[in-house]
Amino acid sequence: MKIAFVGKGGSGKTTLSSLFVRHLAATGAPVVAIDADINQHLGAALGLDEAEAAGLPAMGEHLPLIKEHLRGTNPRIASAEKMIKTTPPGEGSRLLRVREDNPVYDACARPVELDGGTVRLMVTGPFTDADLGVACYHSKTGAVELCLNHLVDGRDEYVVVDMTAGSDSFASGMFTRFDITFLVAEPTRKGVSVYRQYKEYARDFGVTLKVVGNKVQGPDDLDFLREQVGDDLLVTVGHSDWVRAMEKGRPPLFELLEDANRRALSALHTAVDATYELRDPERYTRQMVHFHVKNARSWGNERTGADLVAQVDPGFVLGEGVVAPA
Ligand SMILES: Nc1ncnc2c1ncn2[C@@H]1O[C@H](COP(=O)(O)OP(=O)(O)O)[C@@H](O)[C@H]1O
Ligand SMILES: [Mg+2]
Repeated sequence: MKIAFVGKGGSGKTTLSSLFVRHLAATGAPVVAIDADINQHLGAALGLDEAEAAGLPAMGEHLPLIKEHLRGTNPRIASAEKMIKTTPPGEGSRLLRVREDNPVYDACARPVELDGGTVRLMVTGPFTDADLGVACYHSKTGAVELCLNHLVDGRDEYVVVDMTAGSDSFASGMFTRFDITFLVAEPTRKGVSVYRQYKEYARDFGVTLKVVGNKVQGPDDLDFLREQVGDDLLVTVGHSDWVRAMEKGRPPLFELLEDANRRALSALHTAVDATYELRDPERYTRQMVHFHVKNARSWGNERTGADLVAQVDPGFVLGEGVVAPA
């Protein structure tokens, strides 16, 4: 199950991603946590100290390795250099699974021990100005998008991505790569305006979008969110002393998280699991091809000097049943 946390900076994406990862780990589920936020804080939120967080390998620096691995023996992809972030898998491509060991995890993932279980953490690496502009070819989130587009994930295994709600993800199609997207919003006009913008993009692509209210303090906050986002409001989280203590470097046991916030995390879990029935591998593949063709024509063909539309394998559908070469 692929889950994104999006929202404006400071809304609590990283905090809620990390709490949800902790919650999933405590249930014993296998989890890959990915930090694709501009401010790379997921490692710290999962309890790594500064040195440990700084020592994490950056996916952005391993793009050639990621491309080379995923390409496998796919005859439609001439070389890793001809692969862009939207290049879809086809016959011969290597696929990733949540539970396995593979060269991509070897290079880019590190285990993080949490109460109740160990998760894999992957980080894009710090963003530079170039990453926020139009330098699509080297895009750091491109590494994440490639992995998501080559991932075969089943029920009860989870990939949680801490992401920004930026124009980058709309142009590439990254925002369509998730079973569910949690938009974290504070009860403010700014928080809600990010929701409106996201909703607009999401509507045409059947993206399952749910709002998680954060730093919600009382009936007035709750009324505001209900009024502004209606049925899309899934759950709200209040101020957490547990989170504060963690940020002071005194992480309490996860089981000591406030009851109301634990219930909120369970509600997220239930919402995620319910989307399994909504999966449509053909639509998922079709959307990935749609955005690849768009990116190929707008910059990819020119950048690589090749017709990247020809990378599309018309007979390929990415789903749990696909058997790929080892
Ligand atoms: N529910 C909460 N309770 C207490 N502190 C919170 C809560 N949500 C977020 N914070 C704090 O607010 C700040 C911004 O949160 P963060 O998760 O880093 O936002 P984002 O990733 O969206 O930029 C952090 O210092 C975080 O600890
Ligand atoms: Mg963050």
